[in-house]
Amino acid sequence: MLTSRRGFMTIIEQLQQRQQVIWDNPQVEQQPTTFLFDAALIDEAERRLQRFAPYFMLAFPETSATNGIIESPLASLEQLGHQFKASLFVKRDDILPVSGSIKARGGIYEVLVLAESIALQAGLLTTKDSYTLFAEQAIIDELSNHTIVVGSTGNLGLSIGMMSAKLGFRVVVHMSHDAKQWKKDMLQEKGVQVVEHAGDYSVAVETGRKQAEDDTYSHFIDDENSQQLFAGYAVAARRLANQLPQKPTTATPLVVYIPCGVGGGPGGVIYGLKAQFGAAVKCFMVEPVESPCMLLGMATGKHDAICVEDIGLTNQTIADGLAVGRASRFVGRLMEPLLDGVLTVSDTRLRELQQLLWTTERIYVEPSAAAGFEGAVLLASRYPTAQHLVWATGGGLVPATEKSHDFI
Ligand SMILES: Cc1ncc(COP(=O)(O)O)c(C=O)c1O
Repeated sequence: MLTSRRGFMTIIEQLQQRQQVIWDNPQVEQQPTTFLFDAALIDEAERRLQRFAPYFMLAFPETSATNGIIESPLASLEQLGHQFKASLFVKRDDILPVSGSIKARGGIYEVLVLAESIALQAGLLTTKDSYTLFAEQAIIDELSNHTIVVGSTGNLGLSIGMMSAKLGFRVVVHMSHDAKQWKKDMLQEKGVQVVEHAGDYSVAVETGRKQAEDDTYSHFIDDENSQQLFAGYAVAARRLANQLPQKPTTATPLVVYIPCGVGGGPGGVIYGLKAQFGAAVKCFMVEPVESPCMLLGMATGKHDAICVEDIGLTNQTIADGLAVGRASRFVGRLMEPLLDGVLTVSDTRLRELQQLLWTTERIYVEPSAAAGFEGAVLLASRYPTAQHLVWATGGGLVPATEKSHDFI
């Protein structure tokens, strides 16, 4: 039954009216036991990222502070927390090294999986070697025979493009019409081929998939369906345990709010969080009112078999990274027992929240990354004893010329 918390209007009707909604997932397990993703892939991701750490210190010296591990700080937001009447924290994936967004986790990780497998097969590397070998010409030359192809609304393309270009791969990024010009320019400056599409994210992904099918040296990174991307995101949760000032408990839970586009980024993080903290963590995704693909897929049980256009929404939003009309093929199903709910947020509120974060805390995030803050606003009173954690998912690379005068 698709009845809403308000009772008299179905959740679908509320979505059609572009209302901001709070959808509580009726299938969530309070004490989660159903973990359907292969945990070995997450263990492997942790180990692989560790193997690459010496290379990162060399290729991206900004990662030296974290010993070559791409990780972001957790910060307490005293002033904003006071306004929201919540114990408030922000996870600063907006300043993740290399590409300044949550996509630096999964996107970069999947490129490393490919690079390692090609170098091992070519006999240019063993897992016992120092991975600084990736900065040497022999491996760079080998990788330059291969092309990485991806479809993106912007940040995944930016992460994959920057990482792949550094390793020597040829790269083709198919960008949806939502992608910001500066993201395309930045990639082109790094020698990445950018293909612009008049269509949305699904069109960009589909075209990339088709292009890669025809060439054995092309590798398509499938944002709608990739297990490796998901594993890369999930690693974040394990590391968070060491950053929290207070261990979450069921009496004093951790409540996490993460913006959702196709679902891989937030899904991976949430999967990892539930595996790590069990009943002591509550997890919510936040989507734009015009692009609630995860909510729609989960509430109807149709997952990727339904899109926001099917219920009359436009998928047009200022939150370019969240402008996705159809959810991932597998994330929604994995989330059924794990996700506590999904909220939707209007573009007007995104602008207000982006502004509020700047004026109170002097943190600049892109509109997509402001979405999680609406979760903390709306649910602070539901969880009065909780630590509320908003995942800020991007904005670190936005050039000053792109920011309005409101942010200077
Ligand atoms: C800034 C930002 N936040 C959140 C997301 C959502 O990630 P996903 O599409 O994996 O759900 C994206 C996706 O590109 C993004 O760019």
